[in-house]
Amino acid sequence: MSQVTLLEETIIRKKQLDVSVFGLGKVGLTLSSCLASAGHNVIGVDINDYLVSSLNNKTISSDEPGVQDRILSSLTRLLATANAEEAIQKTSLTFIIVPTPSNSFNGFSLRFVLEACQAIGKALRNKDGRHVVSLVSTVLPGSSDQFIIPELEKSSGRKIGRDLGYCYNPSFIALGEIVKGIETPDYVLIGETDPTSGDLVLAAHRSMVPDHTPIARMHPIEAEITKLASNTHETMRVSFANMLMAACSETPLANVDRITEALSHRMGKRFFKGATPFGGPCWPRDNKALAAFLDMIDVSSSMPRHIDIFNEEHGSYILFKILELCEPKDTIGVLGLSYKPETSLIERSYSIDLIQACINERRQITAWDPMALQNTKDKFGLQVNYATSGNDCLDKASVIVITAPLKELSTINWSIAKDKTVIDCWRCLTPSQREQIGRYIPLGQGSAVPSPLWKTPRLRNHLKLLTN
Ligand SMILES: NC(=O)c1ccc[n+]([C@@H]2O[C@H](COP(=O)([O-])OP(=O)(O)OC[C@H]3O[C@@H](n4cnc5c(N)ncnc54)[C@H](O)[C@@H]3O)[C@@H](O)[C@H]2O)c1
Repeated sequence: MSQVTLLEETIIRKKQLDVSVFGLGKVGLTLSSCLASAGHNVIGVDINDYLVSSLNNKTISSDEPGVQDRILSSLTRLLATANAEEAIQKTSLTFIIVPTPSNSFNGFSLRFVLEACQAIGKALRNKDGRHVVSLVSTVLPGSSDQFIIPELEKSSGRKIGRDLGYCYNPSFIALGEIVKGIETPDYVLIGETDPTSGDLVLAAHRSMVPDHTPIARMHPIEAEITKLASNTHETMRVSFANMLMAACSETPLANVDRITEALSHRMGKRFFKGATPFGGPCWPRDNKALAAFLDMIDVSSSMPRHIDIFNEEHGSYILFKILELCEPKDTIGVLGLSYKPETSLIERSYSIDLIQACINERRQITAWDPMALQNTKDKFGLQVNYATSGNDCLDKASVIVITAPLKELSTINWSIAKDKTVIDCWRCLTPSQREQIGRYIPLGQGSAVPSPLWKTPRLRNHLKLLTN
C-alpha cells in the first residue's frame, strides 16, 4: 500500500513511541521486552495479576533467551498493569497478543481477542487523539474485517479512519527463539486498514529490526491468509522431506540427506530435513484451521488435510521401524521429549505419541530430555521410567531412539551403547559418535548393500511392471 520514503522512515525509526501490549504470555512478554529495549515506553496489560506484579518488580521469569536481559535493562520503560484504561490513556499504539485457542470446528476462537478489544474500546471513549490497535495473535482469515474491527468500533464509538486505526501484524516466531523472530525476522508483515496506521506499526518494528528487513504491507485479510499459509506451507515441506526419508529408509543405497541437499539448491533448505512428524502448538492447528477456512469458502481442503493424514502415517511408520528393531523385552530409551529442542513444551510432540504407543504395546520406556522431563512426568507419571541424564538413559535402555536433534547429544558418552542399538531419526550423530555404538541405525538411509528383500521375486516383478 503506502510507500514510505527513506527520509520518512529515518524520522519514524528514531521516534520514541508509547506502546501498550495486551497479553504478557510467551509472545507478548517477549515483544514488550524487545520494544522497551529499543527505547520505547511500554505498558504491558494482562488479566493475570501475578504476571503484572512480577513484571513490575522485575522478578518475572521467561524461558525465552534474551527476554530477562531486556526486561532488566529496560528500567522504568517497561511497566505492567491490569487496568486497560490506564494503559490506553498513556499510549497511542496497542498490540494485542492474547490466546486464540482452536475450537471444536478447528477454527480459532476470538473470545479473548474480543474481550481485549472491548476493554480497549471502552477505554478509548475516555481518551482524546488517534489510537492504533495492532493484532498479533493468529486468527482465521476474515476475523479482522468481520468481528474484530466491528467490535473495536462498537465499544469505542469510533470509526476506522481519523481517530482509530487497525493492523493485523502477526509475527513469525518459534518458541525458544522468539526474540530472534521479533528482532531479526525474515520480513515484517503488516495488514493495514490505512497507510497511517501501517506507518506507526512499521515504525515500532523498524526500531527493532535490521534496516534491510523486507516489509510486506497489504490488506488485513491478505495478512491473515499469509500468516496461515506460511505455517501450513512449512508443514508441507516438512512432510515432503519426511516422505523422502521413509522412501530412502526402504531403498538400498539411498540417503535422504543427499537428496534433500540436492533439492535444496532449487527449493531452499528450510523446513526440509526428513525426520519425525511435525508437532507443537502452532503447525498442527494451523493446518486444520486452513482446511476449515477452505471448506467454509467451498475450495478443496484436501491439501492441508492430506498433510495431516500423512503426518499421522509417518508417525506410524517410524513406530513400526522402531518396534521392528526391538525385542519385546527391550527397554526403549527415548532421547528428546519436547516437540522440538530448546523448549519444555510437549504439546503434539511426536516423542509423546511414540511413548504412548509403546506403552500401549506393553514396552518398557526410559525417557530423557534436558527441558521437558517434568512435563512428561506430569503426563505419564509412573508408566515411564525417567532417566536423570542422557548417559543414564543410555545406561538403562537397550534400544535408544533419538527423537530430537538435541545439542546435549554431544555431551553423551556414546560408548555406553557399545553393545546396544541406537536408532537416529535425525541422523545427527557424528561419525566418531556412531563408531562407539554397537548397532547404529540412521533412519532415512537404506541398507549399504542391496537388501535380500529388494531381490524378492515379488518386488522384482513389481518393478518390472512399473518399468515395462
Ligand atoms: N507461542 C507461539 O509460538 C506462537 C507463535 C506464533 C503465534 N502465536 C500466537 O500468539 C498468540 C498468543 O500466544 P502466546 O503463546 O503468547 O499465548 P500465552 O497463552 O502464552 O499468553 C497469552 C496471555 O494473554 C493473557 N490474556 C488473555 N486475555 C487477556 C485480555 N483480555 N487482556 C489482557 N491479557 C489477556 C493471558 O493471561 C496470557 O498471559 C496466539 O494467538 C498464538 O496463536 C503464538
